[in-house]
Amino acid sequence: MSACEEVVIDRDAARGVARNPIDEVIAGRLSCREFSGSPVPRSTVEQILRVARFAPSGANIQPWHVYVLAGAAKTEVSAALLHAFETEPSEHVSEYQYYASEFPEPYLGRRQEFGRLFYDSLGIAQSDTAARSRQTAKNFGFFGAPVGLIVTIDRRLAMGSWLDLGMFIQNVMLAAVGRGLQSCPQETFAKYHRILRPALSIPTEQMVACGISMGHPRERGRARLMPRADLEAFASFKGFED
Ligand SMILES: Cc1cc2nc3c(=O)[nH]c(=O)nc-3n(C[C@H](O)[C@H](O)[C@H](O)COP(=O)(O)O)c2cc1C
Repeated sequence: MSACEEVVIDRDAARGVARNPIDEVIAGRLSCREFSGSPVPRSTVEQILRVARFAPSGANIQPWHVYVLAGAAKTEVSAALLHAFETEPSEHVSEYQYYASEFPEPYLGRRQEFGRLFYDSLGIAQSDTAARSRQTAKNFGFFGAPVGLIVTIDRRLAMGSWLDLGMFIQNVMLAAVGRGLQSCPQETFAKYHRILRPALSIPTEQMVACGISMGHPRERGRARLMPRADLEAFASFKGFED
């Protein structure tokens, strides 16, 4: 099957896979990078975080912390991050390694497909580094979303707690979908912890894991771009009779 066929089939699969309201929410979440300015009340974000905290965590240690930004506070942080990105990008490095230094297959192919689909959708040639950089810069404005979250985790914890954190982050994004909102998880923010730490009074023991943009999607932000490999690529079944 060519990569092109795979995309078409999997986009259909995302629509057709849901069998109940929870499936609808899971399949309905996508990384939105175009938000309307329409505000999201603090009470809605509180509801989202209150339900997201029911994520499981080993020994129930609940290793997450979230800084929630809106209004002038968000604008100030965005401006400081954008300034750092534009003036000294190479001086900002994440405190953890998100990506492997080298991707083996099938991850390399998937990453290349991501780049192709993502930049094609924006009308940006992959060789156009200036346009790609302008797109990256939009991360720091939370893609125009009215709410920005910065998620941190205590650096004294071990890798297992990052599993817990991921479950919490997914819960946040699903709870947002349940309220008609969309989101985008963003590791880009982790690189700028030296700006975020003083701006948000993040204690030294906390490490910036990622950011999350959250708000009402614009029409273009509602489109699912990214396909998924089908079941055979990642699941092995044994012992079933049917
Ligand atoms: C932990 C994490 C970090 C991510 N960081 C970024 C980011 O910095 N900027 C961005 O535009 N998308 C980011 N993404 C979104 C991914 O590109 C996206 O999840 C993936 O392409 C699949 O698309 P979907 O979420 O729409 O299904 C991130 C996703 C995850 C889970």
